[in-house]
Amino acid sequence: MLRYLTAGESHGRALMTIVEGLPAGIPLSREDVDSELVRRQMGYGRGGRMAIERDRVTIFSGVRGGVSLGSPVAMMIRNRDWPNWRGVMDPEPGADAGPPIRRPRPGHVDLAASMKYGYRDLRDGLERASARETAARVAAGALASALLGAVGIRVISWTAALGEIEADPDTFPSGDDPGDLWSRWRAREEETALRCPDPASEAEMTELIDRAAERGDTLGGVVEARVLGVPPGLGSHVQSDRRLDGRLAGAVASIQGIKAVEIGAGFAGARSPGSRVHDEIHPPTPGDGVPSRPTNRAGGIEGGITNGQPVVVRAHMKPIATLGRSMASIDLDTGSPIASHHERSDVCAVPAAGVVVEAAVALCVADALTEKFGADTLAEILASLQRFREGLR
Ligand SMILES: Cc1cc2nc3c(=O)[nH]c(=O)nc-3n(C[C@H](O)[C@H](O)[C@H](O)COP(=O)(O)O)c2cc1C
Repeated sequence: MLRYLTAGESHGRALMTIVEGLPAGIPLSREDVDSELVRRQMGYGRGGRMAIERDRVTIFSGVRGGVSLGSPVAMMIRNRDWPNWRGVMDPEPGADAGPPIRRPRPGHVDLAASMKYGYRDLRDGLERASARETAARVAAGALASALLGAVGIRVISWTAALGEIEADPDTFPSGDDPGDLWSRWRAREEETALRCPDPASEAEMTELIDRAAERGDTLGGVVEARVLGVPPGLGSHVQSDRRLDGRLAGAVASIQGIKAVEIGAGFAGARSPGSRVHDEIHPPTPGDGVPSRPTNRAGGIEGGITNGQPVVVRAHMKPIATLGRSMASIDLDTGSPIASHHERSDVCAVPAAGVVVEAAVALCVADALTEKFGADTLAEILASLQRFREGLR
C-alpha cells in the first residue's frame, strides 16, 4: 500500500524520494521532515561531511496547505557539496570525471559492483551505495511517522550497544503512554552524545570511539527500536511475504551496514529453553479486549502478526568499512597488492543508524496499517481502527 523509491548519488546534485500510498488528510509540514534529517546527522563519531551538509527538504507534490492529498509525495534534498563535485559527477557528456578509482575498499560495494556492472571507475558504484542515501529514506520515513503519529503509534529507538559496551536495559525508556514516552525520550535524546539512555555506558562508548579514532579504526553496535501503541492484527501469517516480522527484518537489513536483525528475544531466545522465551497469556484487564501478557519476549509479533504488545526490533551494525588507515586491496588494472582507496568517513554511525532504523520500521508498519485499516484517508483509518478495537472487547 505504502511504497517509496529513492534516487541520487552521494556527491550528485541532490537526493530524491517519491512516497506513494500516503493517505489524504495527514497534517504534514516541511519541518516534520527537516527535524528528522537533522537527527540523522547527529552523533559523536561522525566524519567531516556532517558539518558540510545541513539537510533541508523541498516538498514538490502530494501535500497542500500542510495536509497530505493522497497523491505521490515527491521530495528533494540538495547536496550542498555539489558545487565541489560538479566536474566529477555532472550527468552531461564530456564531464571531467578525473582519474578512475581502481582500488576497491574492503567492506564496501566497490569490488562486487564493478564485477556486476562492469564499472571501470569504482565511483560509479560507491556513490549510490553510500549511506548518504539514508537521508532520502529518513525523509520518506518522516511521512510514515506522521501517519502513525496521527493514529497514536510512535516509533522510538536508542543505541543499545556500541562496540563491546552494552547499555543497561534497566535504563531503556519505558512507560505506557506512547505519546508521552516518545516526547520524553526525544527531549532526553537531545542531551545525549550517542542517543544512549544509559549515561555511564555512554561515557564509556565515547571513550571507545576516541580510542578507535586514534588507531584509525571504526566501530559498530546495536540499535533497539520499539513501536508503541501498535494495534493487534498488522501483518499476516497466511503468506510468507505478508509476515510482518519478515518485512521488518528485510527493511532493516537493507540499511547500509546493518548485518543482523532481531525481533524480541532474538539471538538470546535461540539459546534459551522455550519455557523462558514464550510469553504466557493472561486474561484481559477489565475494559480492555486484549489478553494481557506479562512479558514481551516475542517482541510484539507472533506468527507474523502484531499481538498488541510493543514491537521490538534490534539492528546490529557492522563497524564502518572505511578505516582511518588502509587495508589490503588490489589494483584492478594490474592485480597487484596495494593499500585500499580512502573516502571521508565516520568512525561510528550507530546513533544515526538508529534514526534510519526508525524510518525503515515506520514505513513498514505504516504500510501494514494501511493494508488493514484503509489507505485513502486518515479519517477512514481512524474510524476503522476504532471499530476494530471495539470489536476486540
Ligand atoms: C547512517 C549511516 C552512516 C554511515 N556512514 C558511513 C561512513 O561514513 N563510512 C563508511 O565506510 N560506511 C558508512 N556507513 C555504512 C556503509 O554505507 C556500508 O557499510 C557500505 O555501503 C556497504 O554496505 P553493507 O555494509 O550494507 O554491505 C554508514 C551507514 C549508515 C546507516
